[in-house]
Amino acid sequence: MSRFIIDGGYRLKGNVRISGSKNAALPILAATILMDGDTHLDNVPHLLDISSMIKMLEALGLRAEYKNDCKVRVSNYRKIRHIAPYELITAMRASFLVAGPILAKTGLAKIPFPGGCSIGARPVDIHLKGLKALGAEINIEHGFVSFKAKKLVGNKIFFDFPSVGATENVMMAATLAEGETVIENAAQEPEIVDLGRFLNKAGAKIEGLGTNVLHITGVDTLHGVNYSVIPDRIEAGTFLLAGAISKGEISLSGINLEHVQAVMSKMEDCGVRFSVESKGENEKVVHVKSGDSFKAVDISTRPFPGFPTDMQPQMMTFLTLAQGTSVISESVFENRFLHVNELQRMGADIEIKRNNAIVRGVSSLSGAEVKITDLRAGAALVLAALAADGTTEIYGLKHLKRGYAKFAEKLTALGAKVTSES
Ligand code: UD1
Repeated sequence: MSRFIIDGGYRLKGNVRISGSKNAALPILAATILMDGDTHLDNVPHLLDISSMIKMLEALGLRAEYKNDCKVRVSNYRKIRHIAPYELITAMRASFLVAGPILAKTGLAKIPFPGGCSIGARPVDIHLKGLKALGAEINIEHGFVSFKAKKLVGNKIFFDFPSVGATENVMMAATLAEGETVIENAAQEPEIVDLGRFLNKAGAKIEGLGTNVLHITGVDTLHGVNYSVIPDRIEAGTFLLAGAISKGEISLSGINLEHVQAVMSKMEDCGVRFSVESKGENEKVVHVKSGDSFKAVDISTRPFPGFPTDMQPQMMTFLTLAQGTSVISESVFENRFLHVNELQRMGADIEIKRNNAIVRGVSSLSGAEVKITDLRAGAALVLAALAADGTTEIYGLKHLKRGYAKFAEKLTALGAKVTSES
């Protein structure tokens, strides 16, 4: 079984460059289904999930190729197949994002029903409600969701919850629908803004990006473009915490500060200090410096601009070593405390009460053998290992490969003692 072996206790030092955003690149790749011609993407992270989406595009009849230097080229000249392969949908839930684009492009889509995942049931009812409002006839049978629409027509849609994936799916479909679509209570995550900018560059008419009301006026066609994906705010947040938990002094480049405000603000409340240096017009470098101790804080996960659920496990690790008691409320997913068991095995004092984790700070964690249950839980265990006394063996690296590009290499370059065995 693949594993990281990490010797804890080394203060990280140096600079790390943050990769492009996985969660922005995935819908952007799905959106190329809508576009005629060639699209060149830059700053696409080299990750398992990205390879799965590229395979999906190929299976649907596009040509997609990951090139060196984080570039992806997608060519869309052939007829799109409307059936998405089962193994690719089940490999990654985000594959369901192809539903809206395939439907809008071909008038039909047959997508295997995505199952739940370890952090929650994750239904797709909001996606379906939105696509139905655009005129899709939807049938669920034999494990597939089938969509049919001679023509999609714009409509006013209210989301019960600002689902990231549903906003993306419906926004993509609406770009080629007839007339105007209004999505109310839409998600406002930076990844949605990035997808919207990409679509607008390709000829779409989307207004209200970054707010909770999106206005999309349908157009007849979209064309291929050149586009660079935003930095990964979750990778950035993870490295900010890696610097702080190791009591090190590191800097991050290729980071968008506005996207990591919620995390930095909580870390500042704990006593971590940041300074920002401008390098040229668009480049900012963030320096992280942590003292020898830090304070407990309470956290509640929320849709953007609130504290991201994707940073909750990593922040929990950090707080296991804080002075005092922190309460972490998980309000986005119903079962996102799977890392708690493993952190307890490393000496953390955490009690779960429904969707709250009560974290009582301890003076040290101790290395142990632990298992990764999901992507961000994996990052949480790596952070714990960096700070722990002794050696930690972390099993189940396939989860980490979904979301962290060159994780071991980046940590090693900062002075961490990480051995990766496959
Ligand atoms: C995206 C991110 C994921 C992040 C999540 C929340 C990608 C590829 N993934 O996932 O990393 O943790 O946003 O920020 O961008 N829900 C429903 N019905 C639906 C859709 C969602 O009940 O139709 C529920 C989900 O079960 C979950 C919550 O809404 O409890 C949030 O889900 P959503 O915002 O859709 O997240 P994803 O797009 O799946």
